[in-house]
Amino acid sequence: MNILIIGGGGFLGQKLAHRLEAAGQLRNSEITGLTLADITAPGAVAAPFAVKTIACDITDPAAVSGLLTARFDTIFLLAAVVSSHAEAEFEVGMQVNLHGVLNVLEAARLTETVPVLVFTSSLAVFGGEVPDPIRDWTIPNPQTSYGTQKAIGELLVNDYSRRGFVDGRALRLPTISVRPGRPNRAASSFMSSIIREPLNGEEAVCPVDPDFAHYYLSPRMCVQNLIRGAEVAAADLGQNRTMTMPGRTLTIRQMIDAMTAVAGPNAAQLIRFEDNPAIRNIVTGWRFAYDPAKALALGLQADNSFEDNVRYYLEDDRPA
Ligand SMILES: NC(=O)c1ccc[n+]([C@@H]2O[C@H](COP(=O)([O-])OP(=O)(O)OC[C@H]3O[C@@H](n4cnc5c(N)ncnc54)[C@H](O)[C@@H]3O)[C@@H](O)[C@H]2O)c1
Repeated sequence: MNILIIGGGGFLGQKLAHRLEAAGQLRNSEITGLTLADITAPGAVAAPFAVKTIACDITDPAAVSGLLTARFDTIFLLAAVVSSHAEAEFEVGMQVNLHGVLNVLEAARLTETVPVLVFTSSLAVFGGEVPDPIRDWTIPNPQTSYGTQKAIGELLVNDYSRRGFVDGRALRLPTISVRPGRPNRAASSFMSSIIREPLNGEEAVCPVDPDFAHYYLSPRMCVQNLIRGAEVAAADLGQNRTMTMPGRTLTIRQMIDAMTAVAGPNAAQLIRFEDNPAIRNIVTGWRFAYDPAKALALGLQADNSFEDNVRYYLEDDRPA
């Protein structure tokens, strides 16, 4: 089993690489090689099998073709520029999230193998006029360039699979929390920082009120679901390779209560509520009610409670 992670230097790519290293197998086949590709060569991962790290810009078709001259049984296609970046820089978003994805699918089409390809889509494909709850077959109605690019990626993964070029699976990820590191430019950044910073003993600002609800998944469960997504038999996927990855709908108050239950009352004292209309206007337009029936039937899972998300952050990511 030779595996490629494109976007292997990113947050989820690195976590996926470590999980694969620990598992040593995928689809009941021993992992013999793992390649991590990213726009700059990612950090290496120590493993009992060969790990290569490669710089590859997916907007460059020749570089992607060169990358795929090696034979891969499974490709995780995680490389993307995230929502706020794709919104701020339209051309970059189109180049990476649309043309880059197409370059990977085209290079895969022209190989002699039919790799399993797991594509990370997003709930950002939904917006505007959609029903509550949103189901797997709800028609995407993205209200951002990022969401539009991901929706097109889903359709391409479906068609390249239907044609037998790849064996694709497109998973719409919930917002991942608790994300480690520093706050980023994403409007959703506070959805991790209001938990992460207090657990690190630092202050955090929450720009929405405690009743704000959203749909979340922990990094640990997300990586488990990416692997499960690669393991599902093609015959079980049906005629649409796209599904919502399970998550949990939670209010800010419920998240803070979970943090208090795990880490005690002091952390919550470090959160300051400060209305930020710019962020509030973006995030209150997002939907939070999903029915991820297909993924649940295929063995993907949500976290049991947000207390798990807090524990996973403390166990996996909190700086020593
Ligand atoms: N984290 C979340 O909450 C979330 C939610 C929904 C969807 N997703 C999707 O999951 C995937 C992984 O997300 P993440 O949180 O790890 O993001 P990330 O930004 O940490 O990782 C993405 C990686 O893609 C790489 N990349 C960007 N442009 C590239 C290019 N031209 N060529 C090669 N590599 C390039 C980046 O360098 C980065 O390492 C993305 O596709 C993202 O859209 C994430």
